[in-house]
Amino acid sequence: MSAPDPAIGEVLVPEDRLQRRVGELAAEISHDYAGRDLLVIGVLKGAIFFIADLVRRLTVPCELDFMAVSSYGSSRHSSGVVRILKDLDHPIAGRDVLLVEDVVDSGLTLSYLLRNLASREPASLEVCSLLTKPGAERLNLDSRYVGFRLPDCFVIGYGLDIGERYRQLPYIARLADPSQAGG
Ligand code: IMP
Ligand code: MG
Repeated sequence: MSAPDPAIGEVLVPEDRLQRRVGELAAEISHDYAGRDLLVIGVLKGAIFFIADLVRRLTVPCELDFMAVSSYGSSRHSSGVVRILKDLDHPIAGRDVLLVEDVVDSGLTLSYLLRNLASREPASLEVCSLLTKPGAERLNLDSRYVGFRLPDCFVIGYGLDIGERYRQLPYIARLADPSQAGG
């Protein structure tokens, strides 16, 4: 067996709790979107595992599309200046859009995305965020669906990375050694 990785700290959300909560969110979303025209938009790359697990548990029809964004700033703090690396494949006008995010930290990325998507005139626009941190409340951003509310700390796993690593962990852990964080 290899030595434990010193970057991986306390497990904040173990795999079973994560999967149970994803199931609850999927049930809630399935209930709310019954009979509607659901388009699920994932924000790459952090939301990949979450969105994959979530949509497989939906009991309503949906379509999937993706955006990739990068926010300028250090690896741990976004600046609010967001660059679209990959835009949606299709227009969203008139669609019931659910934007799926990994984590809302400062909320700057989300508020940019919401403004951008709202300008394309969807019929409705809601947010499902796996994680939120206290900073998001300062911007008055409320996600309709939230997996877990975390304290203000940097986390890795289940899609969340530091320098593109640790996304594949099946649980969410605190980043233990801040020297690993760069930026
Ligand atoms: P915000 O603009 O500050 O809300 O940051 C949003 C983006 O920063 C997220 O979509 C993540 O890509 C990244 N991010 C924020 N907090 C964390 C974290 O704890 N771990 C990994 N990535 C994070
Ligand atoms: Mg991200």
